[in-house]
Amino acid sequence: MTNLATPAANYQPYWMPFTANRKFKGAPRLLARAEGMYYWTTDGQKILDGVAGLWCVNAGHGRKSIADAVARQLMEMDYASSFQLGHPAAFEMAAALTAAAPPGFDYAFFTNSGSESVDSALKIALAYHRARGDGTRVRFVGRDRSYHGVGFGGVSVGGIGKHRVAFGNLLQHVSHLPATYDRSQQAYSHHQPAWGAHLADELERIVKLHDASTIAAVIVEPVAGSTGVLPPPKGYLERLRAICDTHGILLIFDEVITGFGRLGTMFAAEHYGVMPDMITCAKGLTNGTIPMGAVLAKPAIYEAVTASSASGPELSHGYTYSGHPVACAAGLAALEIYRSEGLYQRSAEMAPYWEQAVHSLKGRPHVVDIRNAGLLAAVELEAVPGEVGKFAQEAHARCFEAGVMVRAVGESVVMSPPLVIERAQVDEIVGSLSEALGR
Ligand SMILES: Cc1ncc(COP(=O)(O)O)c(C=O)c1O
Repeated sequence: MTNLATPAANYQPYWMPFTANRKFKGAPRLLARAEGMYYWTTDGQKILDGVAGLWCVNAGHGRKSIADAVARQLMEMDYASSFQLGHPAAFEMAAALTAAAPPGFDYAFFTNSGSESVDSALKIALAYHRARGDGTRVRFVGRDRSYHGVGFGGVSVGGIGKHRVAFGNLLQHVSHLPATYDRSQQAYSHHQPAWGAHLADELERIVKLHDASTIAAVIVEPVAGSTGVLPPPKGYLERLRAICDTHGILLIFDEVITGFGRLGTMFAAEHYGVMPDMITCAKGLTNGTIPMGAVLAKPAIYEAVTASSASGPELSHGYTYSGHPVACAAGLAALEIYRSEGLYQRSAEMAPYWEQAVHSLKGRPHVVDIRNAGLLAAVELEAVPGEVGKFAQEAHARCFEAGVMVRAVGESVVMSPPLVIERAQVDEIVGSLSEALGR
């Protein structure tokens, strides 16, 4: 490995998130700088970013207009509370975000992360039903193989066993839909698989079992990202929407990964033509620069909740840094880049090239499936008994050595490049992975 950090550094005190700490600290890999489509390691190796940092740097690294806006805001006013006080940047950001969002998402509640957005949306769903005199609706429905962050709410509705096992009881009253993925039926589908819409009908079974009067909301990622890019089967999201409508259940799309152009539209909801009642987002909201998330809600939800109290705060929920002025400055600048550079459209135009490139890996050693959606893709590799993710981790390591960053999740290598990627860089990522698989 070429990018070992300086031996003198003390790696011990930092308890790293979602990291094999002891393994990492035995052979640390550190990134030092980023610009455009590239990172540079601490020893100067140039790395093509095939994952937009962590599904978040959609406009590419080092965007000057964001840096300038952040610096300006820091010097003008570094912090102001949003509790019973306001400041212009938060109102401007909410106006810009809701104006760009699909029609009907007129209200934005600000958070600092995807996890907080998910937990906020779940709480808003409960508050909404209660405000309407429907306080028995306390059950949430998530889905197997979904990731909704690490708050207790998000983990409870999430569908990744190893994220739950250490953390006790989590939320009560949660049901899970089955995952939308079955390789025996869907392998090598180009974007949406033809098989699987009927899996949404499981929601009817859950409704029969628990009664609609106990169910507050269904939450799904339009494309499950963190468990290996699982696009929704054709017709699946439409069916979920219809069943929710029949039973008065709110539908939440968690668009923390799919938001801000990943599928060629601002949100995947627009791409698939299915509108939820709330959208959670984060990551690309500030191009990954300053932590920020948001819940977008329809007027019926905002109005019901805000009508629930005549005097005190209607929703007893919020964060010290909700609508942080510096995050809002970054968000406004990021939204302006997406708009002025037409990056959602660019993503849509690049998607067919991306699709054809990643599917060219069919037949390479160990490959058992390839999935894509917009500028997302996963190449699933053979599982080795007793060694979870063996080939995916090896492929990741080899690509990194060759100067390309992809991610290993489970048995899959996943990719989600910045939307500013050029065709030659698509070829480089796919070529590097092809080479890694061949070795
Ligand atoms: C769909 C989804 N929801 C929520 C989250 C959590 O976001 P954060 O890590 O910002 O808390 C993620 C993170 O990857 C995500 O992919």
